[in-house]
Amino acid sequence: MSRDDWAEPTVLCHAGLDPAANHGIVNPPVYHASTVLFPTVEALEKAEQGLFDVCRYGRVGTPTSWAFERAVAAIEGGSHAISVPSGLAAITTALTAFTKAGDHVLITDSAYGPTRKFCDAVLTKFGVEVEYYDPLIGAGIEALLRDNTRIVYLEAPGSLTFEVQDVPAIAAAARRRGAKVMIDNTWATPLFFKPFEHGCDVSIHAGTKYMVGHSDAMLGVIVCRDVETAEPVKRTAIMLGSAAGPDDLFLGLRGLRTMGVRLARHQETALRLAQWLQGRPEVARVLYPALPDDPGHALWRRDFTGASGLFGFVLHETSKTRVAAMLDGMELFGMGFSWGGYESLILPARLAGLRTARRWTEPGTLIRVHAGLEDFDDLRGDLERGLARLGT
Ligand SMILES: Cc1ncc(COP(=O)(O)O)c(C=O)c1O
Repeated sequence: MSRDDWAEPTVLCHAGLDPAANHGIVNPPVYHASTVLFPTVEALEKAEQGLFDVCRYGRVGTPTSWAFERAVAAIEGGSHAISVPSGLAAITTALTAFTKAGDHVLITDSAYGPTRKFCDAVLTKFGVEVEYYDPLIGAGIEALLRDNTRIVYLEAPGSLTFEVQDVPAIAAAARRRGAKVMIDNTWATPLFFKPFEHGCDVSIHAGTKYMVGHSDAMLGVIVCRDVETAEPVKRTAIMLGSAAGPDDLFLGLRGLRTMGVRLARHQETALRLAQWLQGRPEVARVLYPALPDDPGHALWRRDFTGASGLFGFVLHETSKTRVAAMLDGMELFGMGFSWGGYESLILPARLAGLRTARRWTEPGTLIRVHAGLEDFDDLRGDLERGLARLGT
């Protein structure tokens, strides 16, 4: 049996490992490195030529970063992965790699807020024209593509509004016009959505979330379809000085090994909570593509193989004080940014200033939930007591 025949759980367990290179020890060592020494000028010059898998200087890569990158690339089916210190660094590095003054980029209106801030504050400053498009545009993206459109950026589903994009339709149109297709695939992880099978060139992950899985490290990774795409991304990461720390890389690699079993549980609990919330009188709408009556369900079923633990629900209109009473008193659902760890989280989502192409019209407060690995009944009880505090 060759590595190419391994099923996904096997790849998750073994990708990136090379015990024979390290005294037979299962996991790779954590290389804390800045300076790398060369025995000869010839060896030094050879190292200067390399881009991937070259040990030249700590910032360029070490066996610790290679192990994580090889594992992620193998799981997602890309040719190369480039690790960086956060998910946002992955987004900004990828966008920077393919843009110059005079270019035009199309960004989904459902993109993660800081992605939007970077586009508006930095790309624009450097002469790139940024245009936001309706996440539900599908093949209609054709009409927005120009000769100078360099990037079409997707996030499916969006991590606040959970709109599912028609990735293959958007990607096909973009590729016909020579634009790079990038997707923030953090929600689905490489396990539940395969960007390269759906026409994308670059897949971006906040490894901080499900890869690390324990809320204790910041990490980002950019996975590229082919080496032609990976080279400019890697060069840009080096030029920006964007290198992930060795301990965080180790935690990312360690997290990958259990990501499949964790995600199965996140998914199961999220679906049960979402279904339960649908029956609650305080709730106007639940946003989770795995629900059969979600507007994105058909696309999700067609293109995804699972749903993660992050979803939203919209409350019937009520006062800010009542929403605060609900959220302030939660016992198990912590209130905090991020998601993807073992613990459950809850957050009031603020969409003000985040939508321009397709307005968000739901009048009630949007609450975002991350279903952690705790017991379902304990989580449901916490939510039930919280909803009671709304006093509606
Ligand atoms: C969808 C999405 N992408 C990217 C990021 C950024 O990741 P990081 O916090 O590691 O910079 C986040 C963080 O919340 C996110 O939700």
